[in-house]
Amino acid sequence: MIIGSYCIKPATYLAPMAGHTNRAFRELCRELGGVGLVCTELVSSQALEYSRQRAMSFFDFDASEAPMAVQLFGGDPQTMAEAARLVVELGAPMVDINMGCWVPKVVKKGGGAALLGDLCQATAVVEAVCQAVQVPVTVKVRSGLTAAQETAVPFARAAEQCGVRAISVHARSAEQGFAGLPDWSVIARVRQAVSIPVFGNGDLTTLAEARQMQQQTGCQGWMVGRAALGAPWIFGQWAGLLPEGVPPLEWRAGVALRHLELTEQFSPLTEFKAVRELRGQLSRYDLGVRDSLVRLESYGQARRLLERLSGGVGLQDLRGNWRLPRPPVQEFAATEQPQCPVPP
Ligand SMILES: Cc1cc2nc3c(=O)[nH]c(=O)nc-3n(C[C@H](O)[C@H](O)[C@H](O)COP(=O)(O)O)c2cc1C
Repeated sequence: MIIGSYCIKPATYLAPMAGHTNRAFRELCRELGGVGLVCTELVSSQALEYSRQRAMSFFDFDASEAPMAVQLFGGDPQTMAEAARLVVELGAPMVDINMGCWVPKVVKKGGGAALLGDLCQATAVVEAVCQAVQVPVTVKVRSGLTAAQETAVPFARAAEQCGVRAISVHARSAEQGFAGLPDWSVIARVRQAVSIPVFGNGDLTTLAEARQMQQQTGCQGWMVGRAALGAPWIFGQWAGLLPEGVPPLEWRAGVALRHLELTEQFSPLTEFKAVRELRGQLSRYDLGVRDSLVRLESYGQARRLLERLSGGVGLQDLRGNWRLPRPPVQEFAATEQPQCPVPP
């Protein structure tokens, strides 16, 4: 898949997830392989306008992460355009516009999914951002505000006309939140309406499901969110780079240890705040030590705990042979043939 001057290979996209897809997690997924595109957590365009200095202190992206997108939200075209200019100045290789977030603090300000209820305003935002920057602009949408009010298709057409280079479709309405099943047919309708690449999104957990989505909808790529939390190896497994199945505890702890190290290296937060955020992130690895994790106060404590669980497999050992830090054991059966998940 081509987006602007970037070749997205494989066409597998780590979904933006606030509180999770920080630089450390994005790097971790990249190290484990199989992910072609990553995105930051959503950033408020208004916050950038009011207090540039403060908002900038949360940025953790770097131009070297390309291909990657910095996601912005907001309902005012000029503020969004200004925010896009700023993040591009700071090195953003692509800008993604959030039109799917339904949480009140985003929607109340006219951003996120609120724009799906006002196509004129949504188009004005997209147009302003596309005109403001030279880098590729992409958009992430839901099907509409409600299932009955499906606006994703007319909006996708308008966005393409404005110069948007790719669109990700979470196949639920904003009203649904995460409830119920995604309706993949909206992905197919968007795909038929535009000629820019479409990433299908919603409840993918296995390569078989992803292939089924592609067959049913014709989408050119997949976006995966929750299935990657506590399992950043999922992309490498889909790409045939890693053995299938649930990795053994030591391996999971080794990956969690790498997650910690990358957080120490890249987090713009204080150690206190970063460790609080890490507690939730590390608990996703299902290490059987939830009580210890909720009490973590420092990087040192986290390191000692994870070193113990990884059975003495230190970071140096993992780095030396990161793709397969340990030989597969019983529950972790190796795949027969590497398979490339790039849709044709
Ligand atoms: C914890 C969490 C945070 C999220 N934050 C964002 C966000 O910042 N921007 C966004 O566009 N979507 C966000 N999403 C939605 C995901 O990008 C994705 O569309 C959704 O989880 C459906 O994909 P999945 O079924 O693969 O998880 C978030 C989802 C979760 C679970």
